Amino acid sequence: MLQMERFYAERVGDMKGSDIRDAFKLTEAADVISFAGGFPAVDAFPVSLIETVMDDLFRCDYTGLQYGPTEGLEELRRQVAVMMDAENIPSDVDNILITNGSQQALDLIAKIFLDPKDYVLVEQPGYIGGLNAIGNYQGQMVGIPLDDDGLRIDILANKLKEMSNKGRHPKFLYTVPNFQNPTGVTLSLERRRGLLELAREYDFLILEDNPYGRISFGQEPLPHLKTLDTEGRVIYLGSFSKILIPGARVGWAVGLPGVIRQLSIAKQGTDLCSSSLGMKLVLDCIMSGELDGHIDSLKVLYRRRRDIMLESLGRYMPAEVRWTHPEGGFFVWLRLPSYIDSRALLPFALEEEKVAYVGGKGFHVDGSGHNTIRLAYSQAPESDIAEGIRRLAKVLRRQIESAI
Ligand SMILES: Cc1ncc(COP(=O)(O)O)c(C=O)c1O
Repeated sequence: MLQMERFYAERVGDMKGSDIRDAFKLTEAADVISFAGGFPAVDAFPVSLIETVMDDLFRCDYTGLQYGPTEGLEELRRQVAVMMDAENIPSDVDNILITNGSQQALDLIAKIFLDPKDYVLVEQPGYIGGLNAIGNYQGQMVGIPLDDDGLRIDILANKLKEMSNKGRHPKFLYTVPNFQNPTGVTLSLERRRGLLELAREYDFLILEDNPYGRISFGQEPLPHLKTLDTEGRVIYLGSFSKILIPGARVGWAVGLPGVIRQLSIAKQGTDLCSSSLGMKLVLDCIMSGELDGHIDSLKVLYRRRRDIMLESLGRYMPAEVRWTHPEGGFFVWLRLPSYIDSRALLPFALEEEKVAYVGGKGFHVDGSGHNTIRLAYSQAPESDIAEGIRRLAKVLRRQIESAI
């Protein structure tokens, strides 16, 4: 067989598979309770709305069957601009690019902004798909830690000073400010303002990735970074994956018209256009007027799952384990005693207790985080959550007791 590796580009060496994707393979067994994949709940898909929309999809025209414009269907861009206006991000069609999920926007942004070895500031822990997109274009990632109020702006300020003294200037900072993947934490208002000030002072862009923002469990939404941005320094990403269906693969980017044009040129070489079927489906769901009501029902469903998970963690977990208290989104983040390696423990948790999670190490760009775990409450059936947490607690208790 031909040795293909010698033909690969140098950048392939920086490409990493996702721990989460690898975990899926292990967690497919029917008797495993899985908190691994951060998928939306299948019982939350608006099947009857989608059926109705599908029935009508080709009745008026064949838009969904034809190639579409690279920037996305004009009417969908207009509707997204209206949604953005309603969230205090004043937008026009020219500010919107429809992408093949927000994951594609992450890729395109890395593609147009990063030269090999450019510095990028990232959250640590951060969303693996975002880190991988940056890594694929050989960005050098500098991880900034988080606490319960999101990104530690004080540490960021020190890091920027240190980098500037060495002549190192980051191109952009990548953040998931609301109900972050993987920790579930939200960036406070004060820190949002502080982050924008630092971005101005040190002249870097901000990539604001917000797929979970609308799945909020009650608190008033905080202003988007893009809303607080007066210069066009923030590029905002949204997605229909968590609020409608991920199978349509429709996300969007909001930015200055020049950036949207450049992203669109990069997208031409990637896929010509997003799936017209997916875009038309999403557009018709918006036009049905049922999307807001659907999102309200999602909040109720995910809030109930979050409540059961937090309550079960409180009931079963040993005192040495700490976790976050998300106010929205899909995830809870666990910190274990430092002598536990969550990744090494996973095969045992799967085999002995039939419970799955994602080890936190892969969310860290500096190789730390061996004693952390991401749990998704989004997909597990409600009736399984307490039992799954009881099993996980049993696994952890055994490790703690054997270390004492
Ligand atoms: C923070 C974050 N950004 C982006 C994505 C990509 O989502 P999609 O491409 O389905 O819009 C995800 C998916 O889980 C995510 O968690």
